[in-house]
Amino acid sequence: MKRSITPTNHETVMDDGDFIVSKTDLKGRITYANRVFMRMAQYKESELLGVQHNIIRHPDMPRGVFRLLWNTIESGKECFAYVKNMSKNGDFYWVYANVTVDYDQNHNPIGYFSVRRKPSREGIEAVIPVYQEMMRIEQQAGARDAPDASVSWLVQLLQGKGTTYEEFIHTLGH
Ligand SMILES: Cc1cc2nc3c(=O)[nH]c(=O)nc-3n(C[C@H](O)[C@H](O)[C@H](O)COP(=O)(O)O)c2cc1C
Repeated sequence: MKRSITPTNHETVMDDGDFIVSKTDLKGRITYANRVFMRMAQYKESELLGVQHNIIRHPDMPRGVFRLLWNTIESGKECFAYVKNMSKNGDFYWVYANVTVDYDQNHNPIGYFSVRRKPSREGIEAVIPVYQEMMRIEQQAGARDAPDASVSWLVQLLQGKGTTYEEFIHTLGH
């Protein structure tokens, strides 16, 4: 399903104690979404189940961030990330996400699990210029090389500061 939603400049903000929760299968298709997810994203459960999680992808998000996310969770590790998401009406909302692997009783991976909290305003402000630069690099690199180009830039930037993406996200806090 290809939707064409026009992004608005209107931000909706998560409540302090809220958790947005979703689960996917191993291919990233949504298998569960909680009420807060549906309220923030403005989709009904029937519009979400079985659908790729990129249904709420915001065009301002660099592809490199999702490259890092998938590399991390596919290697069995958990991932923390700041993500700008888009609701059905085009509004946006920032989340501080933790994505983990979901295992069955025999410890076989059966999907992924994400819990998101309200990020700090300082964290959002710190991430915006980084993601903007990643977008610029991706546009220059062309579609095929885009995620690799922006990820190497980010890794180098953080190496220069003596840190990793994970530590960077942790210091932004939530
Ligand atoms: C458990 C889980 C949660 C995810 N949550 C989001 C999310 O909130 N927003 C988002 O844009 N992508 C999310 N993704 C990543 C999407 O699957 C997808 O990779 C991303 O939206 C980029 O779209 P694309 O792969 O079509 O380029 C999630 C993936 C998993 C496995």
